[in-house]
Amino acid sequence: MSPARTIVVGITGGIAAYKAVNVVRAFVLLGHDVHVVATPAALRFVGRPTLEAISRNRVHSDLYEGVAEVRHVAIGQGADLIVVAPATANSIAKLAAGLADDLLGNTILASTAPLVIAPAMHTEMWNNAATVANIAILRARGVTIVGPGVGQLTGTDSGSGRMEEPDTIVARALCVLDESVNDGQPVGQVQDLAGRRVLISAGGTREPLDPVRFLGNRSSGKQGVALAAAAAARGASVTLVAAHLEVAPPVGIDVRTVSTAAQLQDAVTEASHEADVIIMAAAVADYRPATVQTGKIKKDQVGQTLTLELVRNPDILSGLAASRRQGQIIIGFAAETEEDADALIAVGREKIRRKGCDYLVLNRVGWTTGFTTDDNAVVVLDVRGAIVKDASGTKMSVANSILDVIAHTTISD
Ligand code: C5P
Repeated sequence: MSPARTIVVGITGGIAAYKAVNVVRAFVLLGHDVHVVATPAALRFVGRPTLEAISRNRVHSDLYEGVAEVRHVAIGQGADLIVVAPATANSIAKLAAGLADDLLGNTILASTAPLVIAPAMHTEMWNNAATVANIAILRARGVTIVGPGVGQLTGTDSGSGRMEEPDTIVARALCVLDESVNDGQPVGQVQDLAGRRVLISAGGTREPLDPVRFLGNRSSGKQGVALAAAAAARGASVTLVAAHLEVAPPVGIDVRTVSTAAQLQDAVTEASHEADVIIMAAAVADYRPATVQTGKIKKDQVGQTLTLELVRNPDILSGLAASRRQGQIIIGFAAETEEDADALIAVGREKIRRKGCDYLVLNRVGWTTGFTTDDNAVVVLDVRGAIVKDASGTKMSVANSILDVIAHTTISD
């Protein structure tokens, strides 16, 4: 499997947009971080929820959304590859002219990533002199044109203009990506975690109060899932201990589902014996209710105030670090609310010393940052408290930055 990359799939407004779902799906199943930029017309052919569920990321369509984060250029700047499927005659004309009157046009113009397009239209439109000239312009600029194929079109007619099959588009696109990101070498050879067994905890634990209520936290598990996908793509054998994920775990890895901190501890401890690397990305409850009611707590029996007695959960990360096998690398996470950067680092330095892990991934969280978002910004501290990585971007690119640290680490004592 190739290392995970950030792929933008542009979808324009043709009936073949429904097949673009399979293009998105294939990239996701290969472990890539896929961001769909759909034109408003494309969203009339295929629904946003479908594309969001399949891509596991928000779908972007509106030029005037996310203005504060300069999204109209940020998406293109962060892309390793842009694939437009289907590319209608209209969108091809706009690309050839360099128009930026929608989010996809802006994204493409703002990007230096290779561009692959899969045209789809009726034969007459494909053969029209305007389209022929536009395709020639794009080819001359280095754009890869996949298809179109010949076959049944939308109506009763058939001929040239049918969008290539999703598997063909994906295969061609990955060849283009291989050549671009690795100096012409196939990226499939970059398997820098091959042979390493990586254990990752992700999500947030829930501590039950009674059969219907729990104490929990806002962790979505997206960063841990991105780590699992990226590690698998880089050749690692991955076990994911998953606590209430809001996103689907990657296919092809060992997933163990848990709910409470105690269950997470059992699962992680068992899997830790086999692990070369342990990444504790999960948000684990520090406290749990002292007693769990067998029936629902009823307010008319409790009165105006309810006092909960909580007891400390064991610190799983510290326990793993204290009983680690020789050579095992252990990474903790710390989500903190300090506004001041120096104060945040100071908290991290104190925490890595206390936890005894090899690296600590430190990020600022708040009401609107860190949790549940698609992007993240972290610093990685080593055991001496030095900053060894400062990474921001999509959770997938942050995951790869964290794994870069691990890929270059061996612990001998
Ligand atoms: O102390 P704090 O909760 O901030 O530490 C966060 C790190 O410790 C995370 O890596 C988390 O997975 C881990 N942790 C743990 N057991 C706990 C609480 C947190 O392993 N009870």
